[in-house]
Amino acid sequence: MSKYITTPIYYVNGEAHIGHAYTTFIADTMTRYEKLKGEDTYFLTGTDEHGQKIEESAAKNGKPTQEFADEISASFKNLWDEFEISYDRFIRTTDEEHKKGVQKAFEVMYSKGDIYKDFYEGHYCVSCETFFPETQLIDGEFCPDCGRSTSIVKEESYFFKLSKYEDALLKHYEQNPDFILPRSRANEVINFVKGGLRDLSVTRTSFSWGVKMPESMNDDKHVMYVWLDALMNYITALGYGKDDANMHYWPASAQFVGKDILRFHAIYWPAFLMSLDLPLPKTIGAHGWWTRDGEKMSKSKGNVISPKEVADAYGVENLRYFMLREVPFGQDGDFSQRAFIDRINSELSNDLGNLLNRIIGMSGKYSDYEISSADVEKYHKKELDAMNDVLDSLDSLMENLQTHRYLEELWKLFAIGNKAIEEHAPWVKMKEDKKEEALATVALVANILAKASIMLHPVMPRTTNIVADALNFEINNGSYRELVLDKKLLKLFNIKVVPPLFPRVEEPLMPEAPASQPNAPKEAPKQSKEAVTAKEKDNLIEIGQFFETSLKVGVIVEAQEVPKSKKLLKLQVDLGEGKNRQVVAGIKEFYSAESLLNTQVCVVANLKPAKLMGMMSEGMLLAAKDEEGLCLIRPEKPKKAGTPIG
Ligand code: MSP
Repeated sequence: MSKYITTPIYYVNGEAHIGHAYTTFIADTMTRYEKLKGEDTYFLTGTDEHGQKIEESAAKNGKPTQEFADEISASFKNLWDEFEISYDRFIRTTDEEHKKGVQKAFEVMYSKGDIYKDFYEGHYCVSCETFFPETQLIDGEFCPDCGRSTSIVKEESYFFKLSKYEDALLKHYEQNPDFILPRSRANEVINFVKGGLRDLSVTRTSFSWGVKMPESMNDDKHVMYVWLDALMNYITALGYGKDDANMHYWPASAQFVGKDILRFHAIYWPAFLMSLDLPLPKTIGAHGWWTRDGEKMSKSKGNVISPKEVADAYGVENLRYFMLREVPFGQDGDFSQRAFIDRINSELSNDLGNLLNRIIGMSGKYSDYEISSADVEKYHKKELDAMNDVLDSLDSLMENLQTHRYLEELWKLFAIGNKAIEEHAPWVKMKEDKKEEALATVALVANILAKASIMLHPVMPRTTNIVADALNFEINNGSYRELVLDKKLLKLFNIKVVPPLFPRVEEPLMPEAPASQPNAPKEAPKQSKEAVTAKEKDNLIEIGQFFETSLKVGVIVEAQEVPKSKKLLKLQVDLGEGKNRQVVAGIKEFYSAESLLNTQVCVVANLKPAKLMGMMSEGMLLAAKDEEGLCLIRPEKPKKAGTPIG
């Protein structure tokens, strides 16, 4: 069975930002994963170029609309090429073939009796290209989605009979629990449909930058509604309305979208497809939104992250890894350099990079870079079983889009490898003249690394090819079958010396986000109270999740400045554990070392240790920061070191 994977097509009213890169990385990873498994996979991305919003952005930039769209579309395509995104087709909605396909779809839906002409009067948001009923507006004027001002538009319009598909949609959601992933997102869609669907206005007469009506309609004052035009890209790209050349890829296996455009993809899109008598995609995967250092990104705040800038500073593969690992698919995520650097240093550099270095080092020293797997089973049955359990668990995680869990689970392989080295200490075995045993451990770890690299390949293709090159094998469907599915071992390794994969990062490599301006001009209210509560609900956690964090009272018993660092202080904190913990904290701009001595703080005590400027940090201090500065959170009355908080 073939696979078809899509990203949304990106509006050409501005350059790509980190949110666009995220969807694209996920879709690219999924495509590479399916290809690794030997599936015939087609991957589509592209740009959405019609509508009033684009027309207005072009005018603001003093450019003809097509020229403006050409430039921004090319900037997306160039960026994806630079990032080695493995798309099969980059579609533009201004492509002639696409326009013809949309016209064909319109004709089919019309001839089926699903499109009729009437008048529409309503509150229209130009930015979202959507009409909203008055009851949904904020303060009777502002768009509930983007907060911008709406205007009343009355126009003749063609309507799509969305209401006709209400029951069929509800039935489909019920019978196909994986249609919307994560499943937690399905409820909001189901409730929306249950609330009653109104027929959808699918043409506009108020502007002309759009796909024209089919000639057969003989009504050229209308252009197509941009969402009808845009959604059709998923089939016109396969030749719908032209030659159907690639229509055998339809239905899509996974269509990735941000949560803000889930409604269009989970309600309008399947209804259009039902009207066209086409099958529905297997899964619409809705991801959350990225913020920067806890704040929503916006041009006016000047805190939008450019994926190119991050990739130039940290490397595109590290960025892919970070984004996929940091956030459970479907939840909102925060981009902070500190979190990014911690993952690079501890997970990529320490866990993965060091494992390769150790194999290179030991194989060179003990047997001139040649390692055979002949004795691995004899000495390492336990580790092989543990490794195979992890490998077996991975496929369902990726197929259910749980990328963060997939990577978390995959990292257990590096833990098994590193632990085996510590426990079996091949250097000791060598001294004891047990060379066979020592080399078996090195071979075990080389096999673990080889298999882990295959499974990590979809996320970090270039890096894992370097690992494979160092271990002298190739990552492809053949090695996936042999080493992962059939659980074979690589018989012989001819190890090659390669430079360290992940140089440690000591200080942020990009400027920090500009602090919020307390006196900045106010934007239009963004959301109603209800909307804010609904948003907060997205991030609600169970009480158990909170208690996964171990918070304790700590007493600072030693404090030193970290030379050459503007931000860091090195602290020794008593948590009542007998041995003090070293905590490296970014608070030097706000506290002198002496002022902290013998004061109490609140410490996150179960964070994975991380290295900062080469120093181990074994905890984090709670602090509050706003535009006026940072203050530590301390117990109101002195408490014993180690007192639990919660
Ligand atoms: N053109 C429409 C999609 C049409 S698909 C038939 C569109 N374009 S967009 O450029 O505004 O957004 C494209 C994608 O980027 C959406 O999935 C959106 O959710 C995602 N993101 C935009 N900002 C984002 C973040 N800050 N974080 C994560 N993703 C975000 O919508």
